[in-house]
Amino acid sequence: MHIPVLLEESTELLLGNGGKLYLDCTLGLGGHTRRILEKNPEAFVIGIDRDEEAIELAKENLKEFEGRFSIYKADFAYLDEVLRAEGIDKVDGILLDLGVSMLQLKSERGFSFQIDAPLDMRMDKEQKLTAYRVVNEYPEKELARILWEYGEERLSRKIARAIVQYRKKKPIETTKELADIVLSAYPERLKHGRIHPATKTFQAIRIEVNKELESLKTALEKTPDLLNPGGRLVVISFHSLEDRIVKNFFREHSRLFRILTKKPITPSEEEISMNPASRSAKLRAGERI
Ligand SMILES: C[S@@+](CC[C@H](N)C(=O)[O-])C[C@H]1O[C@@H](n2cnc3c(N)ncnc32)[C@H](O)[C@@H]1O
Repeated sequence: MHIPVLLEESTELLLGNGGKLYLDCTLGLGGHTRRILEKNPEAFVIGIDRDEEAIELAKENLKEFEGRFSIYKADFAYLDEVLRAEGIDKVDGILLDLGVSMLQLKSERGFSFQIDAPLDMRMDKEQKLTAYRVVNEYPEKELARILWEYGEERLSRKIARAIVQYRKKKPIETTKELADIVLSAYPERLKHGRIHPATKTFQAIRIEVNKELESLKTALEKTPDLLNPGGRLVVISFHSLEDRIVKNFFREHSRLFRILTKKPITPSEEEISMNPASRSAKLRAGERI
């Protein structure tokens, strides 16, 4: 369902300080949490995810570790409140394995243009903003900005214009419709590149729907107060926008963290060949001074 990325590298860094109490901000299907619990028999993990479906599967996958973890459905931007609810001040390690899981990508929840489904893209199904609303209700200028900033899409204005033209006739309802609109805005010579033309647009809209960069910035800012001295912050990112935020965070807080990864750690050739989805991963880690 989902193969955990940089599993050994991330858990080794996280557990390297010999702590006991860990916060997994992106529980997903529980792959990293399971490895933490396996590697350190004394560890207790608090897991957060905002996707109910992921949580249900993680509970199933972690059954054998009953009593050694607790799970919260929340946006990790509220990691401090989760810890408070658990009656904990500080932890020995915090993990963020960002982005979407395979469970989400392969679902019919609109995350991927490869699966024809209604435009949704919400990680948290209780949230009001959906991809449908972004695509059908946002003004053209705002759409262009999102595609430019969150997708780094050079054809942002052209695509935004094509979206607005199309929706004058009928609402854009499915992933396939959106992917076809993006394709129609691409010049012929750029249509057959290594990545599908809709990739960047889908990334951008997903980031907007889930306010991914805002949550990441908020969560990172809270981590220094939530880590014991020696506690470790490990972040795995999947695109340059996320990685830039993480890199800048460590740079701006160099008095609070000792950097454990001078250069980001990336997956080995072997990992990439076994799990191509890992190819863009970058891991950065720091230790609370
Ligand atoms: C890459 S997956 C994590 C996979 C997990 N490490 C594993 O091995 O199974 C990312 C997960 O983080 C969740 N997520 C992303 N942003 C979130 C946020 N702001 N708050 C809570 N969960 C979030 C997603 O729902 C998804 O399940």
